Amino acid sequence: MATSTTVQAFFDDKTFTVSYVIADSASRCAAIVDPVLDFDFKSGRTSTVQADRLLAYVREHGLTVQWILETHAHADHLSSARYLQEHVGGRIAIGERIREVQATFKKLYNLERNFLPDGAQFDHLFKDEEVFHIGDIEARALLVPGHTPADMAYVTDGTVFVGDTLFMPDIGTARADFPGGDAHTLYASMRRILALPPQTRMFVCHDYPPAGRAPAWETTVAEQRASNIHVRDGITEAEFVSMRKARDATLDVPALILPSIQINIRAGQLPPAEGDGVSYLKIPLNVLGGSA
Ligand SMILES: [Fe+2]
Repeated sequence: MATSTTVQAFFDDKTFTVSYVIADSASRCAAIVDPVLDFDFKSGRTSTVQADRLLAYVREHGLTVQWILETHAHADHLSSARYLQEHVGGRIAIGERIREVQATFKKLYNLERNFLPDGAQFDHLFKDEEVFHIGDIEARALLVPGHTPADMAYVTDGTVFVGDTLFMPDIGTARADFPGGDAHTLYASMRRILALPPQTRMFVCHDYPPAGRAPAWETTVAEQRASNIHVRDGITEAEFVSMRKARDATLDVPALILPSIQINIRAGQLPPAEGDGVSYLKIPLNVLGGSA
């Protein structure tokens, strides 16, 4: 059946994140994918420049937001899911294995007792292969762990939103050294995505363009299978895993991981305000990094 899916990308050049609005042009129903909340670490101030770009687009096109989809608990940017929901509605959804990520980080941050790692902060938790709808668009949630234990990809007729599994062909793939990450698992997840029809339009969550190339975020399954520097056809699991482990050992901890995860495991909500009405983030000392 012919699809009426439109995809609009929004690139944040501070965190190199790409957010999307997927819309069914017939019913004008939409899903937002991986929205960014701006955060200035130096001042501790959040702002909504990126989120407001999404809101303006949604309003300009008269869209009804049914879903706000997170591919995973991002470590490089804060989510504006809650802010967007307050303005245009939509159910905030993520993969059901977010509970494992919440449990890991509840411990790491020594979060308040009332923070339960049960996923209830989200409106919906997807199971692998779960079917859902954006207007008349039939979509499918695919569990694609490896970068984190809870990564999801979202598939519609002819498109796939892959989060941080694959990046553009000349950049390769996401790291697999976060808590619960695993390069073998990531390889299996990527091969699963690459088994989609070759002409499938693939949208990535980040781009880190090399000098001389503009940011890009759309490719195809066929292009990835032909030329992805880390996982094109012919690269074995063993080759990928040894490359990924060697490379991950050289990468710094992401600049915003400590603030990001605290917000993102709460579905984009700030931590509960303290007695003075202010929300605080915690910075565990001597926990991340090192040889971890
Ligand atoms: Fe990520």
